[in-house]
Amino acid sequence: MTDADRTHDIVVWGATGVAGRFVAEYLTERYAPDELSLAAGGRSPERLDDVVSDLTARSDAWDDVPVVVGDATDPESLRAIARDTRVVCTTVGPYTTYGTPLVEACVEAGTDYCDLTGEVNWVREIVDRYHEAAVDADARIVHSCGFDSVPADLGTLLAQSFAAETFDAPCQTVRIYLEDGSGSVSGGTLASFGELFDAADADPLARQTLQNPYSLAPPGERSGVDPGEQRRPRKDSLRSAWTAPSPMAAVNERVVRRSNALLEYPWGREFRCTEVVPTGDGLTGAVTAGLVAGGLGAFTAAMSVGPLRSALREYVFPDPGEGPTRAETEAGHFLIRVLGRGMAADGPFTVEVEFGADRDPGYGATARMLGEAATCLATGDVDSPLDGGVLTPASGIGRPLADRLRDVGFTVSVGEPSDD
Ligand SMILES: NC(=O)c1ccc[n+]([C@@H]2O[C@H](COP(=O)([O-])OP(=O)(O)OC[C@H]3O[C@@H](n4cnc5c(N)ncnc54)[C@H](OP(=O)(O)O)[C@@H]3O)[C@@H](O)[C@H]2O)c1
Repeated sequence: MTDADRTHDIVVWGATGVAGRFVAEYLTERYAPDELSLAAGGRSPERLDDVVSDLTARSDAWDDVPVVVGDATDPESLRAIARDTRVVCTTVGPYTTYGTPLVEACVEAGTDYCDLTGEVNWVREIVDRYHEAAVDADARIVHSCGFDSVPADLGTLLAQSFAAETFDAPCQTVRIYLEDGSGSVSGGTLASFGELFDAADADPLARQTLQNPYSLAPPGERSGVDPGEQRRPRKDSLRSAWTAPSPMAAVNERVVRRSNALLEYPWGREFRCTEVVPTGDGLTGAVTAGLVAGGLGAFTAAMSVGPLRSALREYVFPDPGEGPTRAETEAGHFLIRVLGRGMAADGPFTVEVEFGADRDPGYGATARMLGEAATCLATGDVDSPLDGGVLTPASGIGRPLADRLRDVGFTVSVGEPSDD
């Protein structure tokens, strides 16, 4: 089947959910029907009709948005969608529960795919089961195209590209700082987070995946010099300030290492990458780092105990389907700073990347990141040596995604740090 035989450029699969709705809204606001043929996908025709009514009411360009109906538990319905679509852009999670048959359908149909997963245990399963078949089918399966892990992964790619162009050497070390941010978390995200702990309880392979910093590298390459996540407060060598562990490090660092591996180690086999939360200098910085680390440790410990996890889900977490309003996403923001250190012929160098947006990171900004990732794939606007496989944003799409995000108002800058 050629691409010309396919009806839809992009299906937003899960358009009735919190994240999927924001993605569909973003794409219909940004692109006209003659630029992008878009469909909204889900399991409930009634809920999809509500979504389409909203989309057309807020848009001058879109009189109608086609819908496609299927079910994540009905593989034949997913095959039909994958065969008729260039890119399936999915927000149907938890991906450990719902994601695998859709990936399989996309690989079978040679259809590109992108998602929002941060479930590293599931990504590892997909790598092991489908990478080779996706390579053979020229299907780009690009995971983690939201706040997990676009800023960290593209930020690292930009730092490394700048280092190669300017200093003719890679950054041997990259540190990713969650510098600033405000936003909220949906019931669907918390359900997916809970799924990660369920998997760690039940499945030794999932536990191993969470313990090994290289678990998303190709089989046979799952070891190296990088010790993995920072687990306690530490004085930072690059900034002489205190840092705490980052809640997203377990995902983002592994994705960045997978990018390096898939691109055939342009940043070297000794490359190290750490993501942290900077907390400032002096006593205040040290105390804040301790508080952040303690809070994260307490939450992780609570989530690791089955009955406590069940109680949090039952009484504390919002239900799947609940999440921030549009106004709340517009009030949020985030900034990530990436510092890369390397050694040029004439001495050490530092590269700095800023990656941020004036939107809630998990929804408003994520809708743009995933929507533009899907658009890059649908239009062939990618800078990647890889035509297929189980890929990362940096290895499967690359710089065009950063350019598109800059065009829609993201801060994306790279250079040498200023002295002040
Ligand atoms: N990486 C990031 O930055 C980031 C940010 C946001 C979200 N996420 C992830 O994105 C995922 C979705 O989050 P969310 O808050 O949007 O969740 P949500 O509101 O619960 O939405 C889930 C979607 O999946 C659909 N769905 C559930 N079961 C289905 C089935 N059997 N067949 C077809 N569709 C089905 C739901 O349809 P109904 O409406 O019919 O129930 C809904 O459209 C989560 O895994 C979350 O962790 C990641």
